[in-house]
Amino acid sequence: MIGLSSSPIAVVFSVVLLLFCFSETTLSAPCPINGLPIVRNVSELPQDNYGRPGLSHMTVAGSVLHGMKEVEIWLQTFAPGSETPIHRHSCEEVFVVLKGNATLYLAETHGSSPGKPIEFPIFANSTVHIPINDAHQVKNTGREDLQMLVIISRPPIKVFTYDDWFMPHTAARLKVPYYWDEQCVQESQKDEL
Ligand SMILES: *[C@@H]1O[C@H](CO)[C@@H](O)[C@H](O)[C@H]1NC(C)=O
Ligand SMILES: *[C@@H]1O[C@H](CO)[C@@H](O)[C@H](O)[C@H]1NC(C)=O
Ligand SMILES: *[C@@H]1O[C@H](CO)[C@@H](O)[C@H](O)[C@H]1NC(C)=O
Repeated sequence: MIGLSSSPIAVVFSVVLLLFCFSETTLSAPCPINGLPIVRNVSELPQDNYGRPGLSHMTVAGSVLHGMKEVEIWLQTFAPGSETPIHRHSCEEVFVVLKGNATLYLAETHGSSPGKPIEFPIFANSTVHIPINDAHQVKNTGREDLQMLVIISRPPIKVFTYDDWFMPHTAARLKVPYYWDEQCVQESQKDEL
């Protein structure tokens, strides 16, 4: 074992390895559904960008993570210039914008592809309602971080993503589990409603 060696590099390496194992344990700990604590401190929730530059995602109350049945809540921060994919989903969704300014692109028509979207400026203290199955994208077109609370119904979310607004619906890619559900989805598949 590396830990038996006493060279400084090996010691540092062992410590890093230990920390890594520890963080792995703490990260995977929420996967077996133990419910959602009554009170939690947002500053202490795990956050990750899930490989998407400029994103910080926290699952405040989740289906896969916490066993929520009807709603799921995220706290997301987007750095200036960052954006969501163009996507749609068959659940209700509401954002409460806490900080920053951004643009919502929303395709309200239901042809064979999303089509040219309408642009809505969104801003701190605005609420945003995404109609079921309307393709949409949020882009931080402001100069500061955009932070919003995202509430969805019927979790876990099943997302269809598009490369552009004129990609046919039939070519949209289904992304399930979604990025933040991937880590724990194996455990949760046993948990049917
Ligand atoms: C919440 O967590 C932050 C970061 O750990 C800490 O500084 C703060 O004191 C906590 N708030 C309460 C009320 O415990
Ligand atoms: C954000 O939008 C608000 C309301 O439209 C505006 O007052 C503010 O100046 C904007 N801030 C930035 C940084 O663009
Ligand atoms: C949001 O609106 C509420 C109600 O008017 C107000 O009390 C609060 O200060 C506003 N927050 C921001 C960040 O503008």
